[in-house]
Amino acid sequence: MRAAYASSFDDGNPLAALTVGERPAPEMPDESWTVVDVRASSLNHHDLWSLRGVGLTEQQLPMILGCDAAGVDSAGTEVVVYPVIPDPGDPRGYSLLSENHPGTLADQVAVPRANLVPKPAALSFVDAACLPTAWLTAYRMLTTRGRVSEGEAVLVQGAGGGVATAAVVLAVALGKRVYATSRDAGKRERIADLGATAVEPGARLAERVDVVIETVGAATFEHSLKCAAPGARIVVSGATAGYEAKVNLRRLFAMQLDILGSSMGTPQELAGLLALCEEQGIRPVVDSVHGFTEAAGAFERLDSGDVFGKVVLDHTR
Ligand SMILES: NC(=O)c1ccc[n+]([C@@H]2O[C@H](COP(=O)([O-])OP(=O)(O)OC[C@H]3O[C@@H](n4cnc5c(N)ncnc54)[C@H](OP(=O)(O)O)[C@@H]3O)[C@@H](O)[C@H]2O)c1
Repeated sequence: MRAAYASSFDDGNPLAALTVGERPAPEMPDESWTVVDVRASSLNHHDLWSLRGVGLTEQQLPMILGCDAAGVDSAGTEVVVYPVIPDPGDPRGYSLLSENHPGTLADQVAVPRANLVPKPAALSFVDAACLPTAWLTAYRMLTTRGRVSEGEAVLVQGAGGGVATAAVVLAVALGKRVYATSRDAGKRERIADLGATAVEPGARLAERVDVVIETVGAATFEHSLKCAAPGARIVVSGATAGYEAKVNLRRLFAMQLDILGSSMGTPQELAGLLALCEEQGIRPVVDSVHGFTEAAGAFERLDSGDVFGKVVLDHTR
């Protein structure tokens, strides 16, 4: 079958470690697993980390990339794949597809049956394939971890990215006042179109915010602390610009801030996200859709950092 996979690691040039070619059809560890014919998948920054060798070992190569997919199961049902696999051998107690099990950037992916969620009819395969990682992560960051409530304000850092555009759209849909930073003037215009107040990185906001959505890390964390209102929650799920952030401890205790880690979300949260999208007519922000044969170009686009929303692969072409 066709697959996009890590054939080596390259920290400096992750694209050099990518191969788009043929891999054997997926194997199922036991009878609780099934195979999904993938109709659309989406890329995440996670795939670039994998190509750099973060979270994988040489022994695991070649590894099919990809956490996100929507497709059709063996019974003909249209499904969304929940990518978190229970994994007692992993220190986290779970792994994501493409970590210990082959990922979704292939014609087929094997997953536990329990990880299949019905795809709402209103969502296309392309839209549905955007939701399981970036959108689920943003949803959990805002709700379960960020506990965003009535009348609160939210800041989203690095708003052009997959998680960040999701956080902007969801926070607006939940009725919050939303501020968002982006390094790029064009992206700031597009963020404003989504209903947020778009500012340059580091800019002073009109008010202090109650929840900060952090996926950038070192480049923005000091600003996140400065923008936080007393009792605010700074929710961190990524560090694209580096893990070593400066934290002013005086500000942390004086303002009684919470710094919270967040990763992915539960199946219940995915169901909540799908229901919210269906009820409110929310559609993911899609940067670009590429045919599977153009997967290398899709990776180049993600690696350029010049994205606005999700980069999607359409497996029907
Ligand atoms: N823990 C989890 O469960 C989880 C789930 C999903 C993602 N993540 C992590 O969250 C991060 C974002 O993921 P993603 O898939 O949304 O990535 P992405 O689509 O590639 O977006 C990255 C965004 O970061 C922003 N950015 C701001 N300053 C930057 C800088 N100095 N260098 C590079 N980028 C900068 C950019 O926005 P502007 O151009 O607008 O400034 C860029 O669009 C990644 O680190 C990823 O590993 C974690």
